[in-house]
Amino acid sequence: MLPGSSQAFPPPIGEAAAHSRLLRDRIAAAIIAAGGAIPFREFMRMALYEPGLGYYAAGAAKFGAGGDFITAPEISPLYGRCLARQVAQVLKALGGGDVLEFGAGGGRLAVDVLRALAGSSAPPARYCILEVSPDLRARQRELIRAELPGHHGRVIWLDRLPAAFTGVVLANEVLDAMPVTMFRKQEHGCAEMHVICEDGNLRWQAKEAAPDSEPALTLAMLERECGVFAAGYTSEYNPWLAGWWRALGDCVRRGLVLIADYGYPRREYYHPQRARGTLLCHYRHHAHDDPFLHVGLQDITASVDFTAVAEAAHSAGFTVAGYSTQAHFLLSLGLLECFEAAVRAHPDHAPLLSQQVQKLTLPGEMGERFKVLAATKDLDLSLRGYTVFNALERL
Ligand SMILES: C[S@@+](CC[C@H](N)C(=O)[O-])C[C@H]1O[C@@H](n2cnc3c(N)ncnc32)[C@H](O)[C@@H]1O
Repeated sequence: MLPGSSQAFPPPIGEAAAHSRLLRDRIAAAIIAAGGAIPFREFMRMALYEPGLGYYAAGAAKFGAGGDFITAPEISPLYGRCLARQVAQVLKALGGGDVLEFGAGGGRLAVDVLRALAGSSAPPARYCILEVSPDLRARQRELIRAELPGHHGRVIWLDRLPAAFTGVVLANEVLDAMPVTMFRKQEHGCAEMHVICEDGNLRWQAKEAAPDSEPALTLAMLERECGVFAAGYTSEYNPWLAGWWRALGDCVRRGLVLIADYGYPRREYYHPQRARGTLLCHYRHHAHDDPFLHVGLQDITASVDFTAVAEAAHSAGFTVAGYSTQAHFLLSLGLLECFEAAVRAHPDHAPLLSQQVQKLTLPGEMGERFKVLAATKDLDLSLRGYTVFNALERL
């Protein structure tokens, strides 16, 4: 996602402020019930997904110009058109199959991929969406019904992974929205960051983690692989990754899983100089690092450790087949060809389309910070998205 600047931004008023207070009170009650502190990951789960109140679970606009941030599918239909080319190559090789999209947000990627695949030789039998937010499910349904009236019967919403799946799984900016465990290196040992409530205000508290706890073992592994951190080094990891991939491993029989997100290989992510981690909040196109501000009204994210993603995929029975920057991935899939075709169809859109291509590919925009990882199962295919560049050895 692309935020704007981190200048001062307008505080919420009226209903939005009341909504935020309600969620903060709910979190404060959970803190009291837990004896005075909850782990940060539990705070982040509530802030984003608490039923009816969390950022993703409640009704405010999030994506696009009127929301808090903008993602690649929302920037340009060319993104979905390129991804559709990768999907088409795999479905053709498989002799058919489905698409399963995790966390479809506003539904834009589903619309663009389905639209592009409608004319292909191997359209998906079904386009399945697994979305945790009931509010976003309703928005996706509305958009797909409005923009693809002839196709919406082919789109189904799932509550859980199917028992068996063949085809392509897409997860665009989903892993960065999963609650993370925060840890801090202490003079002696490791602390897990918790959240407490003092005089109605949410605050950080570092609580010592036992030497055999997950945060302490993770910190030890990271120092072995990335170098020794100074006391006070604070960062985060996604504790759900292994379980998420195990569930996919149980369900995917044949096919491709494509993960697109912002992040780094482990040694870059946990560079000793990145001493404050990667936690980032987005509110009205402003980016900042205070997760306790406007709880429920702002997004909270962390970058993705793509080495951890590759390890979890491998342990779950997948072959990690590709890792590339978003720019290289899209260019491999013929972004410029898609751009030219779009300009031929709508010459007056040329300046806008050209701006979109720049946002998707320039190093200072999304081009380099965003990566695309491909994991395959029982699929022997040279993936089209990695023909220009494949940086697997960096993981
Ligand atoms: C940052 S948004 C990205 C939305 C969309 N994919 C895009 O790129 O515009 C994160 C999305 O992932 C969903 N999400 C988070 N965790 C999820 C999970 N475990 N399973 C399915 N969806 C999830 C959120 O509800 C939201 O739709």
